[in-house]
Amino acid sequence: MSEPRGTFSNRLGFIAAAAGSAIGLGNIWKFPYEVGENGGAAFLVIYLLFAFLICMPIMVGEISMGRNTRSNPYGAFKKLGNKNWAIVGFSGVLIGVFILSFYNVVAGWAFGYFLQISFGDLLQQSDYSAYFSNYVANVGDNLIFSLAFMILTALIVIAGVKKGIERWTKILMPLLIALIVGLIIYGITLPNASQGLEFYLVPDFSKVTANTYYMALSQAFFSLSLGMGAIITYGSYISKNDNIITSAALVTTADALIAFMAGLMIFPLVFFQGIEPAEGPGLVFVSLPAIFEAMGPTLGPVIGGSFFLLLCFAALTSTVSLLEVPTAFLTDETSWSRKKSVIGLAAVIFVLGLPSMLGQGAVSWLTEFVSYGGETHSFMGVVIDVFSDVGLPLGGFLISIFVAYKWKVQRAADEIEKGNQKFRGSLSEKFFNIVISYVSPVVVGLMVIVIFLNKFVGLDLLGGL
Ligand code: PHE
Repeated sequence: MSEPRGTFSNRLGFIAAAAGSAIGLGNIWKFPYEVGENGGAAFLVIYLLFAFLICMPIMVGEISMGRNTRSNPYGAFKKLGNKNWAIVGFSGVLIGVFILSFYNVVAGWAFGYFLQISFGDLLQQSDYSAYFSNYVANVGDNLIFSLAFMILTALIVIAGVKKGIERWTKILMPLLIALIVGLIIYGITLPNASQGLEFYLVPDFSKVTANTYYMALSQAFFSLSLGMGAIITYGSYISKNDNIITSAALVTTADALIAFMAGLMIFPLVFFQGIEPAEGPGLVFVSLPAIFEAMGPTLGPVIGGSFFLLLCFAALTSTVSLLEVPTAFLTDETSWSRKKSVIGLAAVIFVLGLPSMLGQGAVSWLTEFVSYGGETHSFMGVVIDVFSDVGLPLGGFLISIFVAYKWKVQRAADEIEKGNQKFRGSLSEKFFNIVISYVSPVVVGLMVIVIFLNKFVGLDLLGGL
């Protein structure tokens, strides 16, 4: 409690930081492979509906809780609720810790790809799928690069909310977008690109299963950084004059747009190369290099290297937000300094990530860690299933219940009204109230049950819908 809590310098500061948290590997690595595994365009449609109709109001709830309490998720639930609800906030902190543990490993892959494309011989391979499998099984590189990534994240978080988090996002995000746009234009001129566009943009609802619905929902939570309190934490640093509604709308739109563009970039390339869209977590790493190779020995490494470097920056603004959550928890709730908290947490989370890193072929029992739902899962797969796919929607469900029935929508509205005098009686108030009180508890609650049964029991309740 000794150090003052930081604040963002202005509204753009919060939007930049929250968009930085939202936009990351979730959009460019995870979203395309989820689309590829879950039937293409139908997934995209369901994803967008969930993002705007359910997740955006939950984001408003999270920002309001944070700003009202000026606390980390644990403190926010405790102040507005009670000790029992604080357990929900604390679980959110833990979910953040586990998500960061595997996220940092994937960020390490992106970092390694940046180096190997720019300075190594990555673009001279014949089989990029085999290259990826070998690459992720290579312990040495992965240890070094994910450690480097964690150290960089820690240094930025130590520098603090304002100095460390805002600055990067504003400069590097536009560059990443420009590069993606360039690659989209390049990709759609290639042979078979139209098949990719068809897969991505023309929905075939006969392919939809329970899986499609819940993977779209959990992906929306993951991509928007919702359900575990990252946005509560960032919300705790914003000013009372900020308009929470427009901020949430802007962040959701920016995030959805980047995910959408990532799909537009990837699928023409996937069909051009004859790669299986359901390739899985390697999709981005497998489909892009051949395109960079085709750009020639000078341009290829430059464009390819820049792409993976910018992807690393996008990932970095997300890892920073993930590490900020347990850091805010420790600095708010204990006498630990920011520096001590960050160093301790970064070390523990790095170690927690080791089994995820080693379970990519290097260590066989971690690679084939457990079987459930009719499939064998790696250690990282289990962490993603439990903490991200089930944990985040469950967290979002509890946040809705909390805001609607414990804190109460009227009090949330008092908070939202600051910085948005026209909120009361507006259409956005009605929309927020209905989603938080009814739609989200029912739909997300149901989905969590479906997700759980499907993942761990192998039961497809909504199959064929
Ligand atoms: N939203 C981030 C991404 O899309 C990941 C993330 C999840 C960050 C949860 C914070 C909290 O990459």
